[in-house]
Amino acid sequence: ADTLGSAAARTGRYFGTAIDASKLDDPVYTTIAGREFDMVTPENGMTIDATEPRQGQFVFTNADRIVDWAAQNGKRVRGHTLLWHSQQPQWLVNLSGGALRQAMLDHVDGVMTHYKGKIYAWDVVNEAFADGTGARRNSNFQRTGDDWIEAAFRAARAADPAAKLCYNDYNIEDWTSAKTQAVYAMVKDFTSRGVPIDCVGFQAHFGSGSPYPDLRTTLRNFAALGVDVQITELDIPSAPAATYAAVVGDCLAVPRCAGVTVWGVRDPDSWRSGDTPLLFDGDGGKKPAYTAVLDAL
Ligand code: XIL
Repeated sequence: ADTLGSAAARTGRYFGTAIDASKLDDPVYTTIAGREFDMVTPENGMTIDATEPRQGQFVFTNADRIVDWAAQNGKRVRGHTLLWHSQQPQWLVNLSGGALRQAMLDHVDGVMTHYKGKIYAWDVVNEAFADGTGARRNSNFQRTGDDWIEAAFRAARAADPAAKLCYNDYNIEDWTSAKTQAVYAMVKDFTSRGVPIDCVGFQAHFGSGSPYPDLRTTLRNFAALGVDVQITELDIPSAPAATYAAVVGDCLAVPRCAGVTVWGVRDPDSWRSGDTPLLFDGDGGKKPAYTAVLDAL
């Protein structure tokens, strides 16, 4: 295989990237993305401020551009993200209590219904736990009651039964951290009570203090609960080839690791562009980490 996507496909996995709608007019960008990746995640096109800027009035312009581009190019889509404390429109920020809970469920239903049958997996809930502790993040959604995540996943299953439903977060790659343990406990609780959840996304926005010896253990332990695991937003400062290869190796070592997504195409496309954390340089050239990943797949 000579592309990331085709190499990953040999073991039934995918290799994806984040895509920003504003870059779909850039031919260097679309050439690389079209050639190398077989899964795409909208970087910003599906956040709540983008898809429901006014309550009940859904806007899918940028998200549709990405989903249509993916379909035309034979790629699957990870939906990102239905419920997140960040990138919320003001109308939502202004709600609370029962009105917020209902608006939250209506948002899940509205967006998922528009894309019914077209999304491989949805990040239903993103980043609901606080750093450093096992506590829930104190978000507006959380203040509607501890059961908000469960309610969201139930609404999501009802809206599009074919889509995999993921919980997605960062800093949950280290098995021993309190945050990882708290997310694990939630997933274990959901699977034991029949709350619908199919996958856990590990963002993997890593620091330079790599490698990550616990990642494989963490992936294995979550997978043992009966869910898929996915690396969903991988980027590593300076893109060390060995660390990239190790992360891919950790996914390959776990049968239920469905695939890896890197968070952008070229370094200048990255939200951490100063860290040059991706697989392609600013000219679209393949970096050493690219070759390491391809060899590891
Ligand atoms: C980043 C994006 O890359 C930016 O374009 C955005 O404006 C800010 O956030 N966790 C997530 C992603 O789930 O959506 C974030 O993406 C990175 C952290």
